[in-house]
Amino acid sequence: MLDKIKQLEKKIKEEIFSVQQSIDLLAIEKKYLARQKGELAQLIKRIGKLSNEEKPIAGQAFNQLKQKINQWLKQRQQELECQSTKDNSTAIDITLPGKKYLLGYLHPLTRVRQQVSDIFTSMGWQVLEGKEVETDYYNFTALNIPFDHPARDMWDTFYLKKDNLQFDPQLIKETTKNEKLLLRTHTSPMQIRVMKSQTPPLKTVVIGKCFRHEATDAGHEHTFYQIEGLVVDQQISLSNLIHTLQDFLKDFFQQEIKFRLRPEYFPFVEPGLEMDISCFNCHGKGCSVCEQTGWIEALGCGMIHPRVFQEVGYPANKYTGFAFGIGLDRLAMIKYKINDIRWFHRGDLRFNQQF
Ligand code: DAH
Repeated sequence: MLDKIKQLEKKIKEEIFSVQQSIDLLAIEKKYLARQKGELAQLIKRIGKLSNEEKPIAGQAFNQLKQKINQWLKQRQQELECQSTKDNSTAIDITLPGKKYLLGYLHPLTRVRQQVSDIFTSMGWQVLEGKEVETDYYNFTALNIPFDHPARDMWDTFYLKKDNLQFDPQLIKETTKNEKLLLRTHTSPMQIRVMKSQTPPLKTVVIGKCFRHEATDAGHEHTFYQIEGLVVDQQISLSNLIHTLQDFLKDFFQQEIKFRLRPEYFPFVEPGLEMDISCFNCHGKGCSVCEQTGWIEALGCGMIHPRVFQEVGYPANKYTGFAFGIGLDRLAMIKYKINDIRWFHRGDLRFNQQF
């Protein structure tokens, strides 16, 4: 009997250590250790038939074999697990640095543009972009800035030669023979286009690129964005304008904004106003950002000039309205504490990646 057990032990050991997959270990376990039909269960039945002296010896050998089988099964299982992690085809080396996927992201000005557009859309305004190349008439004359009027000096303008450039045929049709084409210096020409093509009530915001022929510095750039607001209806008042701007600024900066209004001259509004907001850097105490005044110029605004209404053909005294113009870049600079407007167009990733 003991010989029989010894032989079985050798066979089972060989079998277990030649297994290459864990699943085969389960089959071996079942084959030998299953309660009813396992080979060991068969063997134990035979022990009962041995003499009284042989029984305890065989019983002990039998129990030891059972323990050994369990131990070998465990050992082999661990070996197989180790092997599979070493094997390159199936292993995952968690110490290897992963592949970095570079996701695109939006330029800070694009983000601010979207935020502004969302705010006005939520208030029920139409959002437009307008043309970057404009006629002299829309950029100036129609806005009560006649040819040769000194107010034109407020906008340093890039003029374009009509003959050697291909323009939008619609625009060419709109220009008179001697009229100049130009890169729009502000978004205000869209006030005229909107009023000429739509009848009040109007609630429009124009967000788009503007250009000025001027020397650049920390606060000035030849290419920048403006937000133009236009509201026309019956009985629109200055308080509607102030309330709208207050609401917009609160929503944009996500906090109550302290502001002040000063009289200012813009040919297309009467009265014309400039709005300053409390300096974000020193909170009104005075610092280098606000040139020690405690205030930052934020925007121009006012009530639409009767001459502008006349120019677009609206009946006299029927409508009133307000308009405002905000530098989008300036808003972004205030919100993100950017100290130089020229960062926006430098294409420097160290700057762009911060947003
Ligand atoms: N267009 C003016 C500029 O670029 C800004 C402006 C001022 C726009 C007053 C307005 C306004 O609509 O009412 O300097």
